[in-house]
Amino acid sequence: MNLVDSIRTIPDYPKPGILFRDITTLLGAPRAFRRAVDELVQPWAGSKIDKVAGIEARGFIVGGAVAHQLSAGFVPIRKTGKLPHETISVTYALEYGTDAIEVHRDAIAPGEQVILVDDLVATGGTAAAAVELIRSLGGTVVAACFIIDLPDLGGADKLRALDVPVRTLVSFE
Ligand code: PRP
Ligand code: HPA
Repeated sequence: MNLVDSIRTIPDYPKPGILFRDITTLLGAPRAFRRAVDELVQPWAGSKIDKVAGIEARGFIVGGAVAHQLSAGFVPIRKTGKLPHETISVTYALEYGTDAIEVHRDAIAPGEQVILVDDLVATGGTAAAAVELIRSLGGTVVAACFIIDLPDLGGADKLRALDVPVRTLVSFE
């Protein structure tokens, strides 16, 4: 099965008018899951990547597998209040209001090579905030990788404007 067909679309979730791209079907299909991870890491196979940073919640699943594949450490980037040790946080704009994400202050050392991973990039607000967190700790964002791009929402372009190389596998207009 190709990757596009392994992703399920749920109309009107979580709100009327939204077409939700659901990766649980991809994750549950052994060959599709392996293929997505293999294709995401392919440009960095054999490169020295120190850390893979995954964004809560689905970025933990994809990012954990990517970290294993690259023999890198895994760094969770979480919604506020979930990480037990000292954190730094960044607030970012949502359609209505703001949200914040955090990382442990000691999770990335200056000069470390970091790949950022999430399941999907939409507006890019969450990933841009994650880039800010990684750079604040002195990490180099080697790339941001997503299974799904929603190009109409401009997130990948927003990240490229921050000098972050972006890799995506499937686009939904
Ligand atoms: C989704 C997705 C990304 C983010 C993308 O997460 O998994 O993290 O939104 O949106 P953006 O590019 O516009 O910032 P969600 O907010 O649904 O959180 P969850 O994974 O914890 O459910
Ligand atoms: N799926 C998962 N997360 C999302 C989506 C989607 O379609 N849109 C914005 N965040």
